[in-house]
Amino acid sequence: MRKYRQKYYDFFSHFYDVIINLHSRDRSLYLRHYLARKSGVKPENKVLDLCTGTGSVATVLSQYAQRGLVVGVDFSLGMLTKAKAKAQKIGARNLCFVAADAGALPFKSDMFDVVTCSHAMYELTGKTRKLALQEIKRCLKKNGRFCMMEHEEPKQPLIRLLYYLRLLSMGKEGREIVRHELSELRRIFSQVVKETTASGRTKLICGEKGRKD
Ligand SMILES: C[S@@+](CC[C@H](N)C(=O)[O-])C[C@H]1O[C@@H](n2cnc3c(N)ncnc32)[C@H](O)[C@@H]1O
Repeated sequence: MRKYRQKYYDFFSHFYDVIINLHSRDRSLYLRHYLARKSGVKPENKVLDLCTGTGSVATVLSQYAQRGLVVGVDFSLGMLTKAKAKAQKIGARNLCFVAADAGALPFKSDMFDVVTCSHAMYELTGKTRKLALQEIKRCLKKNGRFCMMEHEEPKQPLIRLLYYLRLLSMGKEGREIVRHELSELRRIFSQVVKETTASGRTKLICGEKGRKD
């Protein structure tokens, strides 16, 4: 199953940026900066962008962590090829990409100041999401911050239908977490806060790894 999902994303990587740009280029760029600002990333920080895709969020984060390091992780080599090309184009020297599964991260514990995950947490199927949340916590430093961005439940009927189809593709465990995501995140992180953008279309949920965790 995992292999087929990887192949699906490899294929999708050829159109991903085109579709996002057609959908709303300015809004996407605004949202990436919004996520970077809210994550509180500082110039010297080490940042992990989980399920980085074509690296759009990671490249924005690299502008904030100028003296630090941004690592983008994804299990699709197709997506990572696009991400590396993007990083090379802007000459980002503090940005690298690693192929790995979100549920088994190849990093030492307590390594990152900030972990972000944009429009991907809902795409982690089966047990992967629970594993990924545990891995995020393990890899964060004490008091490190985790921020995930996702679509809010759409109001427009057709888009709402697509949103529910996406949830259906996530399987039972996935849908359970969406329904109870705040309580689930509060079991793992402290200071969990949810906010919605002015348009009401995007939500951001941030939490911290406690000092004693
Ligand atoms: C909708 S894209 C989001 C990409 C990017 N974060 C963005 O905001 O543009 C979802 C990404 O999650 C990645 N992904 C899905 N399941 C994964 C897993 N188990 N491990 C690592 N990456 C995964 C896919 O390859 C894809 O690049």
